[in-house]
Amino acid sequence: MHDLPFFIIAVLLGIMGVFLATRLKDDMENLSHLFIQAETAKNAFKRELEITKTLYNMDKVILSTMDKKEILRRCLENLKSLLNGDYISIAIFEPEKEEFRVVTSFSNSTKEEESSIPFDSTIFKSALASEVSRYCPEVSSEDLLSGDDIFRDIGIKSLLIVPLISKGSPIGTLNIGSTKKDHFTKDDITLAEGYALQVAIAIDNSNLYENLQNLFLNTVLSFSSAIDAKSRWTQNHSAEVAKYAVAIAKRIGLHESFIEKLRIAVLLHDIGKIGVPDAILDKSSALSKEEMIEMEKHSLYGVAILQSIKEFKEVLPIVRHHHESWDGTGYPDRLSGNKIPLGARILSVADAFESMITDRPYRRGLTIDETKEELLKHSGKQFDPQIVSVLVSILEDETRKGSSAITVE
Ligand SMILES: [Fe+2]
Repeated sequence: MHDLPFFIIAVLLGIMGVFLATRLKDDMENLSHLFIQAETAKNAFKRELEITKTLYNMDKVILSTMDKKEILRRCLENLKSLLNGDYISIAIFEPEKEEFRVVTSFSNSTKEEESSIPFDSTIFKSALASEVSRYCPEVSSEDLLSGDDIFRDIGIKSLLIVPLISKGSPIGTLNIGSTKKDHFTKDDITLAEGYALQVAIAIDNSNLYENLQNLFLNTVLSFSSAIDAKSRWTQNHSAEVAKYAVAIAKRIGLHESFIEKLRIAVLLHDIGKIGVPDAILDKSSALSKEEMIEMEKHSLYGVAILQSIKEFKEVLPIVRHHHESWDGTGYPDRLSGNKIPLGARILSVADAFESMITDRPYRRGLTIDETKEELLKHSGKQFDPQIVSVLVSILEDETRKGSSAITVE
């Protein structure tokens, strides 16, 4: 009789146990679902953050430099790592050659190098013609016709080709490959297409900048030829001096932007000779004192001619001081030593060297050994000794190579 209540309690405890166990199991399952959802949301958020960061970095790159190669290199590196690709490149279509010129490329196994892709490559041709992205989840030999060894060498199994559209016309393709089959997702394709839009704008902007730079440089070259043409003894003089000055600046290791300014300054350094009478410029005998005074004014005339043009602001000190001497006996300001702008000191040595090796109506051009002697004789007097030793070392290297002229890469 006493067993009945215990039996009922045991049954109730059993039911409660089963109920609690079921409840606990459900709660655990719900909890695990929540964890999975939270993890997925966290990963999606992380990915979005990465994409935003990459796009922001790309904007920064585009705004920070006008160097097309540098822009493309940094943009491609970002996208390749974001999509976990094994290969990425930009190919610009060149209609006259009927091929795509690969301007920048990165892969895990080969170095960045320029190459080309024939226009008959099916997927490239089709992406360019249709202006629509082409994705090959499993690259077949039909997709890549002859000449596409670059993809076979790397072992590309899936390939995404996105057309680059500039001002409504296709100009090339953005190409991303993986050594895994079907590597890219729909989101990857959308991201690459967004990226391609920005890349096309960056290419457009840098092309515009390059065209303006070329126009500027060609104008400078025309001025420079006009100056040299004033005297039959100075044909091509400025271009030759520029070659030597750039060689010296490169050997010193000066920054590319400084070298560009120096090149412009050297090409224009004698522009003030426009204001000097031809009879003085062309005189084959020694100049009188008055003629010398007139001749010396050309560095000031040069500044007067160029100073109204904003783009020449930084070349003015080089033009003004290119006849100063290291020991302070030059003109127009009798500056000495390091007070003379570095560009002017380089120009002074390069200018003298070019004059020495060139034939004149009253003397033949000196040999390289004779010019070295002359430069060393005037080192520390007319010329900066460090610049002289740089030019002498270049000349010795050229002699060792058996070359009779300075070569500038
Ligand atoms: Fe001069």
